[in-house]
Amino acid sequence: MSQQVRGVVARAKGDPVSIETIVIPDPGPGEAVVKVQACGVCHTDLHYREGGINDEFPFLLGHEAAGVVESVGDGVTEVAPGDFVILNWRAVCGQCRACERGRPQYCFNAHNAKQKMTLLDGTALSPALGIGAFAEKTLVAAGQCTKVDPAASPAAAGLLGCGVMAGLGAAINTGKVGRGDSVAVIGCGGVGAAAVTGAHLAGAAKIIAIDIDDKKLSTAKRLGATHTVNSRTADPVEAVRELTGGFGADIVIEAVGRPETYKQAFYARDLAGTVVLVGVPTPEMQLELPLLDVFGRGGALKSSWYGDCLPPRDFPILIDLYQQGRLDLDTFVTETIALDDVEKAFERMHHGDVLRSVVVL
Ligand SMILES: NC(=O)c1ccc[n+]([C@@H]2O[C@H](COP(=O)([O-])OP(=O)(O)OC[C@H]3O[C@@H](n4cnc5c(N)ncnc54)[C@H](O)[C@@H]3O)[C@@H](O)[C@H]2O)c1
Ligand SMILES: [Zn+2]
Ligand SMILES: [Zn+2]
Repeated sequence: MSQQVRGVVARAKGDPVSIETIVIPDPGPGEAVVKVQACGVCHTDLHYREGGINDEFPFLLGHEAAGVVESVGDGVTEVAPGDFVILNWRAVCGQCRACERGRPQYCFNAHNAKQKMTLLDGTALSPALGIGAFAEKTLVAAGQCTKVDPAASPAAAGLLGCGVMAGLGAAINTGKVGRGDSVAVIGCGGVGAAAVTGAHLAGAAKIIAIDIDDKKLSTAKRLGATHTVNSRTADPVEAVRELTGGFGADIVIEAVGRPETYKQAFYARDLAGTVVLVGVPTPEMQLELPLLDVFGRGGALKSSWYGDCLPPRDFPILIDLYQQGRLDLDTFVTETIALDDVEKAFERMHHGDVLRSVVVL
């Protein structure tokens, strides 16, 4: 028997979101229905609402979530009803060319639920990142559920489902920050602040947080930044060089997604170091760099999707670190809100006063 629940839907490009009744089918083979307990508001939800991802409206938004498995379909062995899970958008296929070569973090064929959730009139919904968790319940592929310690707070745990994992992983997995490295992070919103945290966890000796907002910089300091630079008032490239003996940082993480901040990252990095782009650019953005500098400065220019994470490998470890007090996820939860307040949370995102607003159900 299908069920009806409340969910946050973006019906048309740029229109404010609305609360709608959503029809959730029973889970089919390989699927699970999850009772959502918390779901963070990520910049990508706003990108969907603004038509920046694709035109497959209506969208069921929300994708940074934790909850409890309610029911599973045939053949599901990885999770069972009652399990506390974090939802992920990387259920790897095991068969694509990346998976077959032992690099499942790049899986080119990650899967979602096969059946559609719908509006009451039968219109199929496109769930954001194949999740759609601004809803009381959602239907996902069982591989999108990662079981973790149920003692963890759902609001904090859910953040690992997207932005915080993207930032932590950009530092730890993609940037491969190691003990003693110098790291600079440009843009310290939810994702950049998580990259600061990741650099701190990995043992970086110097962590330089850069933003245009002093509030973001003071939070970054709490999360492990050793130095902060407000790039409205100081040249960030000069500042990073000054703080690193004139050379630049070993790893620079760009968490804004703009050509000018990417260029800052490129020149704030030491020779032969690594630049990691985790910020998401828009289609019209172009980058121009002297090819001689790209060659002459050596090193690696990488991009990082979802922090190159593997949910079953990374989520349980990170939740254990959180439970031990070694990974501060609570600082990322600026406010908890109701399902009806997602539109207001999008506005607050524009004003930059939150790391994360988290819907708690
Ligand atoms: N790669 C991935 O897997 C992934 C996952 C989630 C989000 N993202 C992307 O990461 C980016 C950051 O996301 P977020 O949720 O942290 O957003 P956010 O809006 O919370 O943070 C952006 C931060 O950048 C700062 N900023 C803006 N312009 C700047 C400039 N010129 N110089 C320095 N700082 C500047 C802002 O003050 C803010 O603190 C977005 O582009 C988002 O789409 C990527
Ligand atoms: Zn694959
Ligand atoms: Zn996200």
